[in-house]
Amino acid sequence: MPEISRVGVLGCGLMGSGIAQAAATAGFPTVVRDVETALLDRGHAAIRKSLDKLVQKDKLAPAARDAALARLRLTTDLAELATCDLIVEAVTEDLALKNELWRALDASAPAATIFASNTSSLSIGEMAAATGRGDRFVGLHFFNPVPLMPLVEVVRAVGTSPETFERAVTFARRLGKEPIAARDRAGFVVNRLLVPYLLDAVRALEQGVASTADLDRGMQLGCGHPMGPLTLLDFVGLDTVVRIAEIMFDEYRESRFAPPPLLRRMTAAGLYGRKSGRGFYDYSSDTPFPTDLRL
Ligand code: 3HC
Repeated sequence: MPEISRVGVLGCGLMGSGIAQAAATAGFPTVVRDVETALLDRGHAAIRKSLDKLVQKDKLAPAARDAALARLRLTTDLAELATCDLIVEAVTEDLALKNELWRALDASAPAATIFASNTSSLSIGEMAAATGRGDRFVGLHFFNPVPLMPLVEVVRAVGTSPETFERAVTFARRLGKEPIAARDRAGFVVNRLLVPYLLDAVRALEQGVASTADLDRGMQLGCGHPMGPLTLLDFVGLDTVVRIAEIMFDEYRESRFAPPPLLRRMTAAGLYGRKSGRGFYDYSSDTPFPTDLRL
């Protein structure tokens, strides 16, 4: 099998742009594809901002930032991904959409190209089955914010070959990340433990156990977490967490994975968290303050 020398990223949202940044910074020519130029522009601006922050903090040399930016190619043309040795998919958590893209790429990419999904909860095996390359299909689950979080879960589906798995592990290490091995079960390791905890924080808020700020302060000061659970929900996106929880509930049928009513209502009202300006906190001023949820 040839070395991975060129990386493709499908989707230029929060995770896709972070993965592209990590690959380009690690020296890989990287092609990022999204459906609209406006989405690519937003992703590119986020990458630039993040690289600038790292330069300001002396964590990256200005020349390394410029080289990383020069390695990025943004496109709306799916066919351009067929020039890559590894394609990492980071589109919305919608199995039908992902499989449609995988089928198209399977028809155009060389046989040796490895397909990897950044899904946080969908089945790697079900995606692999949509292609004719189940042995070259693997999960590569990154964490938000990708440039700062060291973990990558490398997920082995039933048909993933040991060689593909090893190449994915090596790739994660080349990005400067720490890989852990996980089996193909919804939520893998981290979300299996994290999601019930986040949902419990919403239930505690709904039941009046403590205020938004005190629930967060409790876990920060009592357990040393960098962010309290409600701040983390806003950070990841309430809509994303509802979607992940639904997928996990579907798989395990355990009530601890069921999204609580408040989370559903907030998502229905467009309170997605940071990305929409309001979630458990209101981000309209420099210092976020708890949203009045009329509980
Ligand atoms: N790129 C570059 N630098 C960044 C950055 C980015 N994207 N985001 C933040 N930074 C920098 C900031 O500029 C800041 O620099 P400074 O220390 O020089 O001021 C530094 O990182 C720390 O940032 P902040 O002061 O804003 O805030 P924190 O000290 O709280 O650190 C954090 C930010 C690293 C995000 C920390 O809060 C944290 O670790 N939070 C938990 C994140 C987490 O749990 N992620 C996993 C989510 S679950 C997931 O992703 C799975 C998915 O499937 C749902």
